[in-house]
Amino acid sequence: MPKSISGFSKLSKEEKINWIAATHFANAEEVVQTIKKYWNTDASLQKLHDEFIENTITNFYLPLGVAPNFTINGKNYTIPFAVEESSVVAAASKAAKFWGNRGGFKATIINTEKIGQVHFIYNGDKEKLNTFFSQIKPKFFSETEGITKNMQKRGGGILDIILKDKTADLDNYYQLHATFETKDSMGANFINSCLEQFAKTLKDEAQTFDAFTEDEKNITVVMSILSNYVPNCVVRAEVSCNVSELAEKHIENPQEFAEKFVQAVRIAEIEPYRAVTHNKGIMNGIDAVVLATGNDFRAVEAGVHAYASKDGQYSSLSHAKIEDGIFTFWMEIPLALGTVGGLTSLHPMVKIALEMLGKPSAQELMQIVAVAGLAQNFAALRSLTTTGIQQGHMKMHLMNILNQFKATEDERKQVVKHFEKNTVTHSAVVDYLAEIRK
Ligand code: HMG
Repeated sequence: MPKSISGFSKLSKEEKINWIAATHFANAEEVVQTIKKYWNTDASLQKLHDEFIENTITNFYLPLGVAPNFTINGKNYTIPFAVEESSVVAAASKAAKFWGNRGGFKATIINTEKIGQVHFIYNGDKEKLNTFFSQIKPKFFSETEGITKNMQKRGGGILDIILKDKTADLDNYYQLHATFETKDSMGANFINSCLEQFAKTLKDEAQTFDAFTEDEKNITVVMSILSNYVPNCVVRAEVSCNVSELAEKHIENPQEFAEKFVQAVRIAEIEPYRAVTHNKGIMNGIDAVVLATGNDFRAVEAGVHAYASKDGQYSSLSHAKIEDGIFTFWMEIPLALGTVGGLTSLHPMVKIALEMLGKPSAQELMQIVAVAGLAQNFAALRSLTTTGIQQGHMKMHLMNILNQFKATEDERKQVVKHFEKNTVTHSAVVDYLAEIRK
């Protein structure tokens, strides 16, 4: 069977599965059965999922977990997490409980501006281009009225459009750099539709601008697309308490703990190798809530890491200090999220996740997601600076090891009991399983 194929997209789902099984697997029948086992028995629900993407053959499950007891700006939340990594939900839950007893999390929206650009090439006189842009600028607004009408009713729309000269970086390269307010939608479709109209207006108007030579009229639009870098769509999440209030299990000396915690954050601020792992811990929380609420985690990831490098070196997204006996831990993070449009009303689990959060606005969701990231970071740093990460992480990972070795119910009970008093490591679990199986 050849390993490449033309017209694959036109095959039925059944034919696609059969081709894959026959082409890539020796145990084709077993593979087909496993793929089909993951189909939903409700045909209309399966059809909905099939149509989210292209060439769908089955579903790929991620667990949906919840972390209760989050207090954010005085309001109580149970936060849904879609994530495959053990200990993430437990860590968030533990941090929620910890800070819930110390005044909870505070979150503030700093700004909500989104960005889109028309990238174009103009080989001509710069002054003429500036004059041309000033003259036609109102047309960018008037010719997108059909697209912006509804968004304006909701209080959003195009904020501004400027002409950027980028010729110092790339010959003849300019941009229309536009800013938008997209209210409760993430705004990708709205922004891209506006940008494509700007591009058309730009090209059309150039044709009739008398001051341009024939060459100058030939503006080449390279592309029109939103930016997932949103440094002016930022939310701040914060926790603080008296240092003495930090005392708890594994934190016998709160002053020492607070100082070590601040030191750990400083290391992530100045050392990129550590910053990447530190921020990965933050993204454990961010991505999981972004996914559960039907938002685009790739866009969020790309934007967040660009923001982490905004001062010229990749650095920690979170910060910590002790001042006048008060411990403060905070983070400012760019998040372009939506609570309408996209998957938000289509995916049944996304609908449930958003309802669990009390049907938040996009701004409220930004606050919840940022808090989930900060909570995750707090939990990881707390473990790293006290017990070490492996103790808690491996405790949660125990079930994965038991599943890997197909432990029976009875074996599980014995293993869990044994490791209540012993440190979990992969080899210790394997050895103990072997011992009880003798
Ligand atoms: P513990 O103190 O052993 O937990 O912590 P506990 O059994 O005393 O329970 C206390 C609370 O923790 C519970 O309260 C729950 O809120 C939560 P309760 O519900 O009993 O009122 N909790 C759980 N929630 C759900 N299911 C569970 C569960 N167990 C406890 N099974 C814990 C154990 C894992 C929470 C702790 O050790 C911890 O927070 N560890 C950090 C884990 C972590 O950060 N994991 C992320 C993966 S590691 C990583 O990728 C990031 C990293 O590299 C980032 C970095 O370097 O910065 C570390």
